[in-house]
Amino acid sequence: MEITYEIVKDDEIECCRELCNKLMKFQKSMAHFRPELFDSMSFESRMIPAVQRSTHNFTVVAKIDGKAVAYVYSNIAPKETYDMDFATFFDLDTVAGEEVGCLANFYIDEGYRDLGIGSKLFNMSMEWLDSYREVEDYFVFVSNGNDKALEFYKRKGFVYSNEVLDGFITTLHSKKGAIVPKKESV
Ligand SMILES: CC(C)(COP(=O)(O)OP(=O)(O)OC[C@H]1O[C@@H](n2cnc3c(N)ncnc32)[C@H](O)[C@@H]1OP(=O)(O)O)[C@@H](O)C(=O)NCCC(=O)NCCS
Repeated sequence: MEITYEIVKDDEIECCRELCNKLMKFQKSMAHFRPELFDSMSFESRMIPAVQRSTHNFTVVAKIDGKAVAYVYSNIAPKETYDMDFATFFDLDTVAGEEVGCLANFYIDEGYRDLGIGSKLFNMSMEWLDSYREVEDYFVFVSNGNDKALEFYKRKGFVYSNEVLDGFITTLHSKKGAIVPKKESV
């Protein structure tokens, strides 16, 4: 099984549409608190606007025999982006720089998990974030019920930060340099 990893330009993210929509459905299926909030979340309402408003974007698609089976989307954006009317995603005062890094979308299709693809995509994202010297703080937002993802990020070096929207989302935080990629097998 040959897996290829392709960096996707911002104007070519259409190839992530199906996987992104699957991610939203997956998160709804896992959630025990306010799952209906995912009904309005899709590639159109989440990924496209995020790419448009971020300063830098990094998307990687994993393919097997030409078929997209996984993707990760990370970005760099002003920290104020995360201080919204309806929620504050982390305490802005704890962030030194003007911009933060975020691992925003991450989905490995069913049947392709636990093969190391997620670790490879995660490491590529962290290397990309590390290349922006002025960005020191990285965040991941995990929706409620997705304990497997929560543990995955913790094993990689992220630590618990805070709850958002009464626990609908858990924010995890990492500082630049805190994550040392383990050797990958794929
Ligand atoms: C969470 C998720 C991204 C992790 O990706 P993944 O490809 O399953 O993760 P990996 O295979 O790299 O690692 C998971 C575990 O599989 C095992 N594993 C890793 N490489 C392996 C290999 N080559 N062979 C067998 N098992 C392996 C390990 O136990 C690993 O644990 P570790 O992190 O302690 O090493 C994936 O499960 C997923 O997409 N889930 C659904 C969507 C989701 O939750 N997205 C996150 C939203 S915040």
